[in-house]
Amino acid sequence: MDNIDIRTQRTRIENINALPTVPGTVKKVSQVIGRPGVTLSEISQFVVGDPALTTKVLKMVNSAVYGFPGRISSVSHAIMLLGLSVVKGLLLGISVFEIMQQVMAGLWDHSVGCAVVARAIAEKKGLKDPEEVSVGGLLHDFGKVILMLEYQTQYEEAMKQAASRKTAIFEAERAVFQETHSAVGTWLAERWRFPPNLVEVIECHHRPGSARKAPMETAIVHFSDILVRARGFGFGGDPLVPAVHPAAFDLLALTDADIREVLDKLESSREESGSLSL
Ligand SMILES: [Fe+2]
Ligand SMILES: [Fe+2]
Repeated sequence: MDNIDIRTQRTRIENINALPTVPGTVKKVSQVIGRPGVTLSEISQFVVGDPALTTKVLKMVNSAVYGFPGRISSVSHAIMLLGLSVVKGLLLGISVFEIMQQVMAGLWDHSVGCAVVARAIAEKKGLKDPEEVSVGGLLHDFGKVILMLEYQTQYEEAMKQAASRKTAIFEAERAVFQETHSAVGTWLAERWRFPPNLVEVIECHHRPGSARKAPMETAIVHFSDILVRARGFGFGGDPLVPAVHPAAFDLLALTDADIREVLDKLESSREESGSLSL
């Protein structure tokens, strides 16, 4: 098996719509959300024009991932409530759901679990946009999907190495691809014009100490990723539960009671994550 220097593939990956393995639905969403100056009403029209997507959006906004009190029954209402960057992230998450199930069993549950936990912690910390942090949780491992789709043999080798050497998947990725899924996710997040804070969360979720713009948000997703693994919720590419970065843990300053409360939310979303399979 030949290793690949994924850094040489950046332009190819950024041009996601030309990748043969990426499904049409993901490309369609990617095109709309990546359009410069795209507005909420354009996105709303796009969603409403697709009945299957409409159903999925409503199911998602009414799930534990967002947890609005009361049912939201119209797409335009949901989109107004959530705001541009959250809606963009949500659509991507939804569009990639099926493919996540196919390429890595458990990655969807891992991502949804992480979104639920990240939002709960962001609320605890009084952040002004917990939904955006939750999108960070939903999309933090997006790079894995692309690596698995486009470089399946190499990615399977990385997973095998991670399992046999008992290392984190991102370390095995670095051995095989020279870079990790965080970098791949970052290239795409930039391409989709996500806000800088969200880009940084994706980029630094395995090294939260490097976060400069959004250290708290990054620490939240870093911790959520580990918490979800520790609870055996879904699968993120390796069976490890890594240590929490000490500085991130200090920054979060969560009490035992806080963590228990967050875990309760995760548990009660467990059923629902499966039902989001639509
Ligand atoms: Fe990751
Ligand atoms: Fe993860």
